[in-house]
Amino acid sequence: MRFVTAPHEPFDYQVYVDLLPAFGHDLKLKVEGFNFAGSLKLRAAAGLVAAAEQSGRLDDDSILIESSSGNLGLALAMIAASKGLRFVCVTDPRCNRSTLNLLRSLGAELVVVTDPDPKGGYLQTRLDYVRARCAEDSRYLWPNQYANPANWIAHYETTAPEIAKDFPDLDLLFVGVGTGGTATGCAKYFRDNGDEVKVIAIDAVGSVSFGGEAGQRSIPGLGASVAPPLLEPELFADVVHVAEEDTVRCCRELARGGFLFGGSTGTVLSGALRWLDGQDSGWRPRAVAIAPDLADRYADTVYDDDWVAERFGPATPALQRNLVAEHG
Ligand SMILES: Cc1ncc(COP(=O)(O)O)c(C=O)c1O
Repeated sequence: MRFVTAPHEPFDYQVYVDLLPAFGHDLKLKVEGFNFAGSLKLRAAAGLVAAAEQSGRLDDDSILIESSSGNLGLALAMIAASKGLRFVCVTDPRCNRSTLNLLRSLGAELVVVTDPDPKGGYLQTRLDYVRARCAEDSRYLWPNQYANPANWIAHYETTAPEIAKDFPDLDLLFVGVGTGGTATGCAKYFRDNGDEVKVIAIDAVGSVSFGGEAGQRSIPGLGASVAPPLLEPELFADVVHVAEEDTVRCCRELARGGFLFGGSTGTVLSGALRWLDGQDSGWRPRAVAIAPDLADRYADTVYDDDWVAERFGPATPALQRNLVAEHG
């Protein structure tokens, strides 16, 4: 039995899904969706707020402001509510309606920017908006998840040591890259501790995080239209890019086995399976992939046949399977 008085107080919610029976690889999925914020980003949010408190910059007059595609905003809104702080969440049209409703209920002020930046995403527009608000009023405090070391340090101090403790003989860790906080923190931890763990970064097709051309993306969480300053590409043994159609297919494949995960889990798992399938057949690495959140926030997107058909066309196998189940 454990009692908590604040949503970000640490408690043990750790569980892994063993994917060996489903996919034939020694791959465990670390589930990060069972905390009060429902995502991995609670760790980063708690780290960012604690760092602001320690710096002495956060006081009763402060107004937290942050750019987020949803999950970090929700986690920060919870912490702000529990501490009686004001919070402005700057997001974009990819943030889903239910998250917007939850943010409002937590007392956050919502700003949804609608002008795409020159690269087709919204990140630059969101950041410009945050900078403008901060320039107007010195009470604003921007933790800046994209550049603040407290983001990766949260994973260096919590996520990676948990994995290292649970899997002392680990060979591979697959991590999705949004701000790069999770991937950077985990890669630095394993590097600094002399572990032979290869960290493989998973990015979305259309993201510029590891170079390349920006492209249209619809699923929030992974990928960026502006290269994240926290990311150090040389930390990673490899990088895999995953198309959103494969993200959807993988999420729905997991669902057919009874597991409902969020979009970025489909991306990470799809990339991990492709990478593992491409290795020598004699090698049986022990691997973990991080699953950042669960499916509830994606019911109207990744799991909605009309949404999928609009973006990827009705001929996708994922969609066909659903139609066959409904009408067949
Ligand atoms: C669902 C989801 N997955 C993955 C990530 C990426 O995590 P990070 O920002 O640590 O790279 C995010 C970040 O917002 C997210 O919301």
